[in-house]
Amino acid sequence: MYWNREIETLTTNNLKGLQLERLRRTVARAGQSQFYGQRLQQAGIVPDDLGSLEDIRKLPFTTKDDLRTSSLQMLTTPLKEIIRLHASSGTTGQATVIYYTRTDIELWADLVARSLYMTGMRQEDVFQNMMGYGLFTGGLGFHYGAERLGALTIPAGAGNSKRQVQLMRQFNVTAIHIIPSYALFLLQTFEELGVDPRDLPLRLAYIGAEPYSDATRRRIEAAYGVKAYNCYGLSELNGPGVAFECPEQNGSHVWEDSYLIEVLDPSTLDPVPPGTVGELVFTNLTRQGMPLLRYRSRDLASYDDRPCPCGRSSRRISRIQGRTDDMIILKGVNIFPIQIDRVLMRLPEVASNYLIEMQQIKGNDQMVIKVEVKQEYFSEDLAYLKGLQKRITEALKSELLVTPRVDLVEHNSLPRTEGKAVRVVDSRPKA
Ligand code: COA
Ligand code: ZN
Repeated sequence: MYWNREIETLTTNNLKGLQLERLRRTVARAGQSQFYGQRLQQAGIVPDDLGSLEDIRKLPFTTKDDLRTSSLQMLTTPLKEIIRLHASSGTTGQATVIYYTRTDIELWADLVARSLYMTGMRQEDVFQNMMGYGLFTGGLGFHYGAERLGALTIPAGAGNSKRQVQLMRQFNVTAIHIIPSYALFLLQTFEELGVDPRDLPLRLAYIGAEPYSDATRRRIEAAYGVKAYNCYGLSELNGPGVAFECPEQNGSHVWEDSYLIEVLDPSTLDPVPPGTVGELVFTNLTRQGMPLLRYRSRDLASYDDRPCPCGRSSRRISRIQGRTDDMIILKGVNIFPIQIDRVLMRLPEVASNYLIEMQQIKGNDQMVIKVEVKQEYFSEDLAYLKGLQKRITEALKSELLVTPRVDLVEHNSLPRTEGKAVRVVDSRPKA
Protein backbone atom coordinates (compact mmCIF):
# COMPACT_ATOMS: atom_id res chain seq x y z
CA MET A 1 0.00 0.00 0.00
CA TYR A 2 2.93 2.33 0.64
CA TRP A 3 5.77 2.97 -1.79
CA ASN A 4 7.95 4.22 1.07
CA ARG A 5 6.24 3.21 4.31
CA GLU A 6 8.75 4.83 6.62
CA ILE A 7 8.57 8.27 5.01
CA GLU A 8 4.85 8.23 4.23
CA THR A 9 3.81 7.33 7.77
CA LEU A 10 6.30 9.35 9.83
CA THR A 11 4.76 10.82 12.97
CA THR A 12 4.14 14.53 12.70
CA ASN A 13 7.01 15.26 15.07
CA ASN A 14 9.46 13.10 13.18
CA LEU A 15 8.33 14.63 9.91
CA LYS A 16 8.97 18.09 11.30
CA GLY A 17 12.40 17.02 12.52
CA LEU A 18 13.27 15.70 9.08
CA GLN A 19 11.99 18.88 7.46
CA LEU A 20 14.07 21.11 9.70
CA GLU A 21 17.21 19.13 9.04
CA ARG A 22 16.56 19.23 5.29
CA LEU A 23 15.63 22.89 5.38
CA ARG A 24 18.97 23.77 6.97
CA ARG A 25 20.81 21.69 4.39
CA THR A 26 18.84 23.28 1.57
CA VAL A 27 19.52 26.80 2.79
CA ALA A 28 23.22 25.97 3.02
CA ARG A 29 23.14 24.56 -0.48
CA ALA A 30 21.10 27.41 -1.97
CA GLY A 31 23.58 29.82 -0.40
CA GLN A 32 26.22 28.45 -2.76
CA SER A 33 24.36 29.92 -5.72
CA GLN A 34 25.01 33.48 -6.79
CA PHE A 35 21.37 34.45 -6.46
CA TYR A 36 20.64 33.07 -2.98
CA GLY A 37 24.17 33.78 -1.79
CA GLN A 38 23.36 37.46 -2.19
CA ARG A 39 19.78 37.21 -0.96
CA LEU A 40 20.71 35.37 2.22
CA GLN A 41 23.58 37.70 2.89
CA GLN A 42 21.30 40.71 2.52
CA ALA A 43 18.84 39.10 4.91
CA GLY A 44 21.71 38.24 7.25
CA ILE A 45 20.70 34.57 7.50
CA VAL A 46 22.87 31.51 7.99
CA PRO A 47 21.46 27.97 8.22
CA ASP A 48 22.10 27.81 11.98
CA ASP A 49 19.64 30.67 12.46
CA LEU A 50 16.89 28.20 11.69
CA GLY A 51 16.05 26.79 15.10
CA SER A 52 12.55 25.66 14.20
CA LEU A 53 10.37 25.37 11.11
CA GLU A 54 8.67 28.65 12.01
CA ASP A 55 11.99 30.37 11.42
CA ILE A 56 11.42 29.84 7.71
CA ARG A 57 9.71 33.21 7.93
CA LYS A 58 13.14 34.80 8.21
CA LEU A 59 13.95 33.68 4.67
CA PRO A 60 13.27 35.86 1.64
CA PHE A 61 10.59 34.87 -0.88
CA THR A 62 11.29 33.81 -4.45
CA THR A 63 8.97 34.98 -7.21
CA LYS A 64 8.26 34.07 -10.79
CA ASP A 65 10.06 37.25 -11.83
CA ASP A 66 13.17 36.10 -9.99
CA LEU A 67 13.03 32.91 -12.01
CA ARG A 68 12.54 34.78 -15.26
CA THR A 69 15.58 36.92 -14.72
CA SER A 70 17.92 34.77 -12.64
CA SER A 71 17.39 31.03 -13.05
CA LEU A 72 20.98 30.39 -14.16
CA GLN A 73 22.24 32.32 -11.13
CA MET A 74 20.23 29.96 -8.91
CA LEU A 75 22.35 26.95 -9.86
CA THR A 76 24.31 25.45 -7.01
CA THR A 77 26.42 23.26 -9.29
CA PRO A 78 28.47 23.79 -12.43
CA LEU A 79 26.38 23.44 -15.58
CA LYS A 80 28.11 20.18 -16.44
CA GLU A 81 26.24 18.52 -13.55
CA ILE A 82 22.91 19.53 -15.10
CA ILE A 83 21.36 16.86 -17.32
CA ARG A 84 17.93 18.32 -18.21
CA LEU A 85 15.93 21.50 -18.36
CA HIS A 86 12.24 22.24 -18.62
CA ALA A 87 10.76 25.61 -19.51
CA SER A 88 7.47 27.43 -19.60
CA SER A 89 6.21 28.85 -22.86
CA GLY A 90 7.46 32.27 -23.87
CA THR A 91 10.12 32.96 -26.45
CA THR A 92 10.50 36.66 -25.74
CA GLY A 93 13.16 36.11 -23.12
CA GLN A 94 10.58 35.63 -20.39
CA ALA A 95 10.36 31.86 -20.20
CA THR A 96 11.14 30.36 -16.81
CA VAL A 97 13.76 27.66 -17.03
CA ILE A 98 14.29 24.91 -14.47
CA TYR A 99 17.51 22.88 -14.36
CA TYR A 100 17.85 19.34 -13.01
CA THR A 101 20.84 17.25 -11.95
CA ARG A 102 20.75 13.47 -12.33
CA THR A 103 19.84 13.17 -8.64
CA ASP A 104 17.01 15.68 -9.09
CA ILE A 105 15.52 13.64 -11.93
CA GLU A 106 15.78 10.46 -9.86
CA LEU A 107 14.20 11.99 -6.75
CA TRP A 108 11.41 13.52 -8.80
CA ALA A 109 10.69 10.23 -10.58
CA ASP A 110 10.56 8.52 -7.20
CA LEU A 111 7.96 11.00 -5.92
CA VAL A 112 5.81 10.46 -8.99
CA ALA A 113 6.16 6.69 -8.58
CA ARG A 114 5.15 7.07 -4.93
CA SER A 115 2.09 9.06 -5.99
CA LEU A 116 1.00 6.55 -8.62
CA TYR A 117 1.58 3.60 -6.30
CA MET A 118 -0.57 5.31 -3.66
CA THR A 119 -3.53 5.28 -6.08
CA GLY A 120 -3.08 1.61 -6.83
CA MET A 121 -0.95 1.61 -9.97
CA ARG A 122 1.26 -1.49 -10.14
CA GLN A 123 3.82 -3.03 -12.48
CA GLU A 124 1.08 -4.90 -14.33
CA ASP A 125 -0.59 -1.64 -15.39
CA VAL A 126 -0.38 -0.16 -18.87
CA PHE A 127 -0.12 3.59 -18.67
CA GLN A 128 -0.84 6.04 -21.49
CA ASN A 129 0.51 9.53 -20.95
CA MET A 130 -1.42 12.14 -22.96
CA MET A 131 0.35 15.19 -21.59
CA GLY A 132 2.60 17.30 -23.76
CA TYR A 133 6.12 15.92 -23.91
CA GLY A 134 8.94 18.32 -24.68
CA LEU A 135 9.36 21.34 -22.47
CA PHE A 136 6.26 20.67 -20.36
CA THR A 137 6.96 18.74 -17.16
CA GLY A 138 3.70 16.76 -17.33
CA GLY A 139 4.99 14.50 -20.09
CA LEU A 140 8.45 13.43 -18.98
CA GLY A 141 7.64 13.86 -15.28
CA PHE A 142 4.91 11.22 -15.29
CA HIS A 143 6.81 9.16 -17.81
CA TYR A 144 9.84 8.71 -15.58
CA GLY A 145 7.64 8.10 -12.54
CA ALA A 146 5.59 5.37 -14.22
CA GLU A 147 8.74 3.70 -15.52
CA ARG A 148 10.29 3.91 -12.07
CA LEU A 149 7.22 2.10 -10.75
CA GLY A 150 7.59 -0.45 -13.52
CA ALA A 151 4.36 0.04 -15.45
CA LEU A 152 4.36 -0.33 -19.23
CA THR A 153 4.47 3.31 -20.27
CA ILE A 154 3.13 4.65 -23.57
CA PRO A 155 4.47 8.13 -24.40
CA ALA A 156 1.43 9.17 -26.45
CA GLY A 157 1.88 12.91 -25.93
CA ALA A 158 -0.82 15.52 -26.48
CA GLY A 159 -3.24 15.74 -29.39
CA ASN A 160 -4.06 13.30 -32.20
CA SER A 161 -7.31 12.14 -30.68
CA LYS A 162 -8.08 9.14 -32.90
CA ARG A 163 -4.65 7.72 -32.25
CA GLN A 164 -5.17 8.11 -28.50
CA VAL A 165 -8.26 5.93 -28.66
CA GLN A 166 -6.55 3.39 -30.90
CA LEU A 167 -3.59 3.11 -28.54
CA MET A 168 -5.88 2.60 -25.57
CA ARG A 169 -7.67 -0.24 -27.36
CA GLN A 170 -4.65 -1.88 -28.90
CA PHE A 171 -2.55 -2.09 -25.75
CA ASN A 172 -5.27 -2.67 -23.15
CA VAL A 173 -4.44 0.53 -21.37
CA THR A 174 -5.46 0.55 -17.71
CA ALA A 175 -4.30 4.02 -16.61
CA ILE A 176 -4.23 7.40 -18.32
CA HIS A 177 -2.84 10.84 -17.57
CA ILE A 178 -4.99 13.47 -19.21
CA ILE A 179 -6.04 17.10 -18.93
CA PRO A 180 -9.65 17.12 -17.65
CA SER A 181 -11.11 19.32 -20.41
CA TYR A 182 -9.47 17.06 -22.97
CA ALA A 183 -10.86 13.97 -21.25
CA LEU A 184 -14.35 15.36 -21.80
CA PHE A 185 -13.56 16.46 -25.35
CA LEU A 186 -12.10 13.05 -26.23
CA LEU A 187 -15.46 11.42 -25.50
CA GLN A 188 -16.65 12.73 -28.89
CA THR A 189 -13.84 10.88 -30.60
CA PHE A 190 -14.78 7.71 -28.74
CA GLU A 191 -18.30 8.18 -29.97
CA GLU A 192 -17.24 8.79 -33.58
CA LEU A 193 -15.20 5.60 -33.47
CA GLY A 194 -18.09 3.69 -31.90
CA VAL A 195 -16.05 2.80 -28.82
CA ASP A 196 -17.34 3.00 -25.27
CA PRO A 197 -14.43 3.77 -22.92
CA ARG A 198 -16.21 1.78 -20.20
CA ASP A 199 -15.69 -1.36 -22.28
CA LEU A 200 -11.91 -0.92 -22.10
CA PRO A 201 -9.84 -2.23 -19.17
CA LEU A 202 -9.25 1.36 -18.01
CA ARG A 203 -9.36 1.75 -14.24
CA LEU A 204 -7.24 4.78 -13.28
CA ALA A 205 -7.06 8.33 -14.54
CA TYR A 206 -4.77 11.12 -13.41
CA ILE A 207 -6.08 14.58 -14.10
CA GLY A 208 -4.55 17.96 -13.54
CA ALA A 209 -2.69 20.86 -15.16
CA GLU A 210 -5.80 23.07 -15.15
CA PRO A 211 -8.49 23.93 -12.60
CA TYR A 212 -11.67 21.87 -12.65
CA SER A 213 -14.51 21.04 -10.32
CA ASP A 214 -15.36 17.86 -8.49
CA ALA A 215 -18.40 17.57 -10.78
CA THR A 216 -16.04 17.32 -13.77
CA ARG A 217 -14.06 14.64 -11.99
CA ARG A 218 -17.21 12.63 -11.35
CA ARG A 219 -18.24 12.99 -14.99
CA ILE A 220 -14.88 11.68 -16.14
CA GLU A 221 -15.10 8.81 -13.68
CA ALA A 222 -18.56 7.84 -14.91
CA ALA A 223 -17.84 8.19 -18.62
CA TYR A 224 -14.54 6.30 -18.54
CA GLY A 225 -15.34 3.82 -15.78
CA VAL A 226 -12.29 4.84 -13.77
CA LYS A 227 -11.29 6.34 -10.47
CA ALA A 228 -9.86 9.77 -11.30
CA TYR A 229 -7.15 11.28 -9.13
CA ASN A 230 -6.24 14.86 -8.70
CA CYS A 231 -2.60 15.66 -9.12
CA TYR A 232 -0.87 18.91 -8.40
CA GLY A 233 2.54 20.15 -9.29
CA LEU A 234 4.37 23.02 -10.83
CA SER A 235 7.48 22.97 -12.94
CA GLU A 236 9.17 25.55 -10.72
CA LEU A 237 9.40 22.88 -8.01
CA ASN A 238 10.14 19.95 -10.40
CA GLY A 239 6.75 19.30 -11.96
CA PRO A 240 3.87 16.93 -11.18
CA GLY A 241 3.98 15.00 -7.92
CA VAL A 242 4.15 17.87 -5.44
CA ALA A 243 0.76 16.85 -4.03
CA PHE A 244 -1.43 13.91 -4.99
CA GLU A 245 -4.70 12.36 -3.91
CA CYS A 246 -4.85 9.08 -2.05
CA PRO A 247 -7.76 6.63 -2.51
CA GLU A 248 -9.78 8.64 0.03
CA GLN A 249 -10.01 11.47 -2.57
CA ASN A 250 -10.25 14.00 0.24
CA GLY A 251 -7.60 16.52 -0.79
CA SER A 252 -4.08 16.02 -2.10
CA HIS A 253 -1.27 14.89 0.20
CA VAL A 254 1.70 17.21 -0.10
CA TRP A 255 4.94 15.21 -0.10
CA GLU A 256 6.22 17.17 2.83
CA ASP A 257 9.49 15.29 3.11
CA SER A 258 10.45 16.96 -0.19
CA TYR A 259 8.42 20.16 -0.29
CA LEU A 260 7.90 22.44 2.66
CA ILE A 261 4.56 24.12 2.26
CA GLU A 262 3.28 27.37 3.74
CA VAL A 263 -0.23 28.68 3.17
CA LEU A 264 -0.17 32.44 3.52
CA ASP A 265 -2.59 35.31 3.34
CA PRO A 266 -1.47 36.89 0.05
CA SER A 267 -1.80 40.43 1.35
CA THR A 268 -0.23 40.15 4.82
CA LEU A 269 1.93 37.09 4.04
CA ASP A 270 1.00 35.67 7.45
CA PRO A 271 0.09 31.98 7.78
CA VAL A 272 -3.62 31.17 7.58
CA PRO A 273 -5.28 28.45 9.71
CA PRO A 274 -6.40 25.11 8.26
CA GLY A 275 -9.48 25.42 6.05
CA THR A 276 -8.77 29.03 5.07
CA VAL A 277 -7.76 29.77 1.49
CA GLY A 278 -4.32 31.30 1.06
CA GLU A 279 -1.41 31.38 -1.35
CA LEU A 280 0.67 28.22 -1.52
CA VAL A 281 4.35 28.92 -0.92
CA PHE A 282 6.86 26.10 -1.33
CA THR A 283 10.45 25.41 -0.40
CA ASN A 284 12.32 22.50 -1.99
CA LEU A 285 13.80 20.22 0.66
CA THR A 286 15.72 17.72 -1.46
CA ARG A 287 16.50 19.45 -4.73
CA GLN A 288 20.17 19.68 -5.59
CA GLY A 289 20.78 21.73 -8.72
CA MET A 290 18.34 24.55 -8.19
CA PRO A 291 16.60 24.54 -4.80
CA LEU A 292 13.98 27.27 -4.43
CA LEU A 293 13.28 28.96 -1.12
CA ARG A 294 9.76 30.13 -0.33
CA TYR A 295 8.55 30.14 -3.92
CA ARG A 296 5.29 32.07 -4.25
CA SER A 297 3.18 29.83 -6.50
CA ARG A 298 0.30 32.31 -6.85
CA ASP A 299 -2.04 29.32 -6.50
CA LEU A 300 -4.79 29.72 -3.93
CA ALA A 301 -5.92 26.76 -1.81
CA SER A 302 -6.52 25.72 1.79
CA TYR A 303 -4.94 22.91 3.80
CA ASP A 304 -6.21 20.21 6.09
CA ASP A 305 -4.02 18.78 8.85
CA ARG A 306 -6.48 16.27 10.24
CA PRO A 307 -5.34 12.64 10.07
CA CYS A 308 -6.21 10.85 6.83
CA PRO A 309 -7.68 7.34 7.04
CA CYS A 310 -4.98 6.17 4.61
CA GLY A 311 -2.41 6.53 7.39
CA ARG A 312 -0.17 9.03 5.63
CA SER A 313 0.91 11.83 7.90
CA SER A 314 1.40 14.58 5.33
CA ARG A 315 -1.07 17.43 5.22
CA ARG A 316 -3.54 17.73 2.37
CA ILE A 317 -4.39 20.68 0.18
CA SER A 318 -7.76 21.44 -1.37
CA ARG A 319 -8.19 21.78 -5.10
CA ILE A 320 -6.83 25.06 -6.43
CA GLN A 321 -9.42 27.80 -5.89
CA GLY A 322 -7.88 30.47 -8.08
CA ARG A 323 -4.76 32.54 -8.62
CA THR A 324 -3.44 35.79 -7.33
CA ASP A 325 -2.21 36.81 -10.78
CA ASP A 326 -3.77 36.95 -14.24
CA MET A 327 -2.39 33.70 -15.60
CA ILE A 328 -4.77 31.86 -17.93
CA ILE A 329 -4.64 28.10 -18.41
CA LEU A 330 -5.65 26.78 -21.82
CA LYS A 331 -5.30 23.09 -22.72
CA GLY A 332 -2.84 22.66 -19.86
CA VAL A 333 -0.68 25.51 -21.08
CA ASN A 334 -0.01 28.49 -18.82
CA ILE A 335 -0.43 31.84 -20.53
CA PHE A 336 0.12 35.36 -19.25
CA PRO A 337 -1.86 38.07 -21.10
CA ILE A 338 1.34 40.11 -21.27
CA GLN A 339 2.76 37.52 -23.69
CA ILE A 340 -0.11 38.19 -26.07
CA ASP A 341 0.33 41.90 -25.64
CA ARG A 342 4.00 41.71 -26.53
CA VAL A 343 3.42 39.70 -29.70
CA LEU A 344 0.60 41.92 -30.92
CA MET A 345 2.29 45.22 -30.18
CA ARG A 346 5.33 44.22 -32.23
CA LEU A 347 3.15 44.02 -35.35
CA PRO A 348 2.82 47.35 -37.18
CA GLU A 349 -0.64 46.51 -38.56
CA VAL A 350 -2.17 46.05 -35.13
CA ALA A 351 -3.88 49.00 -33.45
CA SER A 352 -3.68 49.31 -29.69
CA ASN A 353 -6.84 47.49 -28.65
CA TYR A 354 -7.67 43.80 -28.50
CA LEU A 355 -9.85 41.42 -26.51
CA ILE A 356 -9.07 37.91 -25.27
CA GLU A 357 -12.06 35.58 -25.00
CA MET A 358 -11.95 32.10 -23.56
CA GLN A 359 -14.65 30.03 -25.22
CA GLN A 360 -15.72 26.46 -25.55
CA ILE A 361 -16.22 25.54 -29.19
CA LYS A 362 -17.58 22.07 -29.92
CA GLY A 363 -16.51 20.96 -26.47
CA ASN A 364 -12.91 22.11 -27.00
CA ASP A 365 -11.51 25.02 -25.00
CA GLN A 366 -10.36 27.80 -27.30
CA MET A 367 -8.87 31.23 -26.97
CA VAL A 368 -10.36 33.75 -29.37
CA ILE A 369 -8.42 36.97 -29.73
CA LYS A 370 -10.19 39.89 -31.35
CA VAL A 371 -7.57 42.22 -32.73
CA GLU A 372 -8.18 45.76 -33.96
CA VAL A 373 -6.34 46.49 -37.19
CA LYS A 374 -5.17 50.02 -38.01
CA GLN A 375 -7.40 51.86 -40.49
CA GLU A 376 -4.82 51.98 -43.27
CA TYR A 377 -4.38 48.19 -43.18
CA PHE A 378 -8.03 47.27 -42.84
CA SER A 379 -8.64 46.94 -46.59
CA GLU A 380 -11.38 45.34 -48.61
CA ASP A 381 -8.80 42.89 -49.88
CA LEU A 382 -9.86 39.64 -48.25
CA ALA A 383 -6.75 37.77 -49.31
CA TYR A 384 -4.62 40.38 -47.61
CA LEU A 385 -6.63 40.20 -44.39
CA LYS A 386 -6.50 36.41 -44.40
CA GLY A 387 -2.73 36.54 -44.80
CA LEU A 388 -2.47 39.00 -41.94
CA GLN A 389 -4.68 36.85 -39.76
CA LYS A 390 -2.47 33.84 -40.49
CA ARG A 391 0.69 35.73 -39.64
CA ILE A 392 -0.73 36.95 -36.34
CA THR A 393 -1.95 33.46 -35.46
CA GLU A 394 1.45 31.96 -36.18
CA ALA A 395 3.29 34.61 -34.18
CA LEU A 396 0.99 33.96 -31.23
CA LYS A 397 1.27 30.19 -31.53
CA SER A 398 5.03 30.26 -31.45
CA GLU A 399 4.95 32.35 -28.30
CA LEU A 400 2.12 30.57 -26.46
CA LEU A 401 2.46 26.95 -27.69
CA VAL A 402 -1.28 26.73 -28.30
CA THR A 403 -3.14 28.04 -31.32
CA PRO A 404 -5.56 30.86 -30.63
CA ARG A 405 -8.28 31.83 -33.08
CA VAL A 406 -7.59 35.34 -34.31
CA ASP A 407 -10.48 37.55 -35.46
CA LEU A 408 -9.52 40.82 -37.14
CA VAL A 409 -11.82 43.72 -36.41
CA GLU A 410 -11.93 47.36 -37.42
CA HIS A 411 -10.16 50.07 -35.50
CA ASN A 412 -12.25 51.44 -32.61
CA SER A 413 -14.80 48.64 -32.83
CA LEU A 414 -13.98 46.91 -29.52
CA PRO A 415 -15.37 48.31 -26.28
CA ARG A 416 -12.81 50.42 -24.42
CA THR A 417 -12.17 50.15 -20.73
CA GLU A 418 -10.56 52.60 -18.39
CA GLY A 419 -7.06 51.87 -17.21
CA LYS A 420 -6.44 48.19 -17.65
CA ALA A 421 -5.89 47.67 -21.35
CA VAL A 422 -5.57 43.90 -21.39
CA ARG A 423 -8.97 42.35 -21.06
CA VAL A 424 -9.87 38.73 -20.70
CA VAL A 425 -13.40 37.41 -20.88
CA ASP A 426 -13.99 33.81 -19.84
CA SER A 427 -17.24 32.46 -21.22
CA ARG A 428 -16.42 28.78 -20.79
CA PRO A 429 -19.21 26.95 -18.99
CA LYS A 430 -18.43 26.34 -15.33
CA ALA A 431 -18.34 22.58 -14.89
N1 COA B 1 -4.38 17.76 -24.22
C1 COA B 1 -4.08 16.99 -25.28
N2 COA B 1 -4.55 17.18 -26.50
C2 COA B 1 -5.43 18.17 -26.68
C3 COA B 1 -5.82 19.02 -25.63
C4 COA B 1 -5.27 18.77 -24.36
N3 COA B 1 -5.58 19.52 -23.32
N4 COA B 1 -6.72 19.91 -26.10
C5 COA B 1 -6.87 19.66 -27.40
N5 COA B 1 -6.09 18.59 -27.76
C6 COA B 1 -5.98 17.96 -29.07
C7 COA B 1 -7.02 18.42 -30.04
O1 COA B 1 -8.18 17.70 -29.86
C8 COA B 1 -6.38 18.11 -31.34
O2 COA B 1 -6.53 16.72 -31.59
P1 COA B 1 -6.65 16.12 -33.08
O3 COA B 1 -5.25 15.90 -33.48
O4 COA B 1 -7.39 14.87 -32.92
O5 COA B 1 -7.38 17.15 -33.88
C9 COA B 1 -4.90 18.37 -31.08
O6 COA B 1 -4.76 18.33 -29.66
C10 COA B 1 -4.44 19.70 -31.56
O7 COA B 1 -5.33 20.66 -31.06
P2 COA B 1 -5.39 22.15 -31.57
O8 COA B 1 -6.43 22.83 -30.78
O9 COA B 1 -5.50 22.21 -33.04
O10 COA B 1 -3.91 22.60 -31.28
P3 COA B 1 -3.27 23.69 -30.35
O11 COA B 1 -2.08 24.18 -31.11
O12 COA B 1 -4.20 24.73 -29.87
O13 COA B 1 -2.81 22.89 -29.04
C11 COA B 1 -1.71 21.09 -27.85
C12 COA B 1 -1.79 22.00 -29.06
C13 COA B 1 -3.05 20.58 -27.36
C14 COA B 1 -0.90 19.92 -28.33
C15 COA B 1 -0.98 21.88 -26.72
O14 COA B 1 -1.86 22.79 -26.20
C16 COA B 1 -0.45 20.97 -25.60
O15 COA B 1 0.61 20.39 -25.75
N6 COA B 1 -1.18 20.86 -24.47
C17 COA B 1 -0.77 20.00 -23.38
C18 COA B 1 0.06 20.75 -22.39
C19 COA B 1 0.45 19.91 -21.24
O16 COA B 1 0.75 18.74 -21.33
N7 COA B 1 0.46 20.50 -20.07
C20 COA B 1 0.83 19.83 -18.89
C21 COA B 1 1.85 20.65 -18.23
S1 COA B 1 2.43 19.86 -16.79
ZN1 ZN C 1 -4.76 9.88 2.52
